[in-house]
Amino acid sequence: MNFKEELQNRVEHIETILQEYLPNEEGWQKSVIEAMNYSVLAGGKRLRPMLMEETYRLFGGQGKEIEPFMAAIEMIHTYSLVHDDLPAMDNDEYRRGRKTTHVVYGEAMAILAGDGLLNYAFETALKSFEMDGNAQSKAQALTVLARKAGIYGMIGGQTADIEAENLGDKVTQEHLMFIHAHKTSALIEAAMMIGAILAGADDRQIAEVEKAAYEIGIAFQIQDDILDVTSTAEELGKPIGSDAKNHKTTYVTLKGLDEAQKEQRELSEHAVDTIRNMGYTNDFLMELITSLVTRQK
Ligand code: IPE
Ligand code: IPE
Ligand code: MG
Ligand code: MG
Ligand code: MG
Repeated sequence: MNFKEELQNRVEHIETILQEYLPNEEGWQKSVIEAMNYSVLAGGKRLRPMLMEETYRLFGGQGKEIEPFMAAIEMIHTYSLVHDDLPAMDNDEYRRGRKTTHVVYGEAMAILAGDGLLNYAFETALKSFEMDGNAQSKAQALTVLARKAGIYGMIGGQTADIEAENLGDKVTQEHLMFIHAHKTSALIEAAMMIGAILAGADDRQIAEVEKAAYEIGIAFQIQDDILDVTSTAEELGKPIGSDAKNHKTTYVTLKGLDEAQKEQRELSEHAVDTIRNMGYTNDFLMELITSLVTRQK
């Protein structure tokens, strides 16, 4: 099987899991649940659950207890997008090839759908305790998920991102690295660390995975910044030029396209080496990470 087919199979597998864990659209809360499901089922690359499961496999994990965590991380990621697109934040009208949640359901329901997804992510991850597997590892995985999504993780990065708008050339490399590390790397770190933790990796291995995931995340955000300049809305499924519109400092504005490309390639190669040097193999995971450097969406 070639990489593209394997990738497609995994996306379908993840979408089956998402379907299984998403709430039913019923009751007085039907509207918010519809908005939640609209946002999650719109599509998307499903990168975070994929990295989670592949890291789990890398360390020999075989159980089902990973699945509620896979659904949970995609719910948290999707909530971050729903809120990121709100008029008060990046003010964007397309996401994953369709109208953003606030355009379809209104701002109040988009805020609530984001809140709902964040909370439901933890309700979902907690279902892993009804399954086989080590309870202490599940508790450790939940601790990572909670922290990397919060003020010391993604929310912290989004805060710095919003405050950096209009700072112009006062945004330093160090400042931008804080933003990228938190708004983007944090959830990728959570994804891969949870895979390692649930598969029984030791503390040293989990720390190595965190380092590799940090680099994958920075590289991923650099490519996101590049595509915001070089791609098209049709290909991306979201508007281009969003960063310029919002006066964001990005890797591209700070260093230029060529340097941004070079650095993201180096980060990705280093991440692959870090994982290889741990002595385990997962060819698909390696190819997945490498493919992100040249991704077009
Ligand atoms: C978009 O994430 C937000 C960033 C952190 C750059 P993705 O590019 O993974 O979005 P989807 O999930 O594929 O829609
Ligand atoms: C957002 O970064 C990262 C999140 C935590 C949502 P961007 O604002 O660049 O993401 P896109 O380009 O809208 O997907
Ligand atoms: Mg943003
Ligand atoms: Mg945005
Ligand atoms: Mg972007």
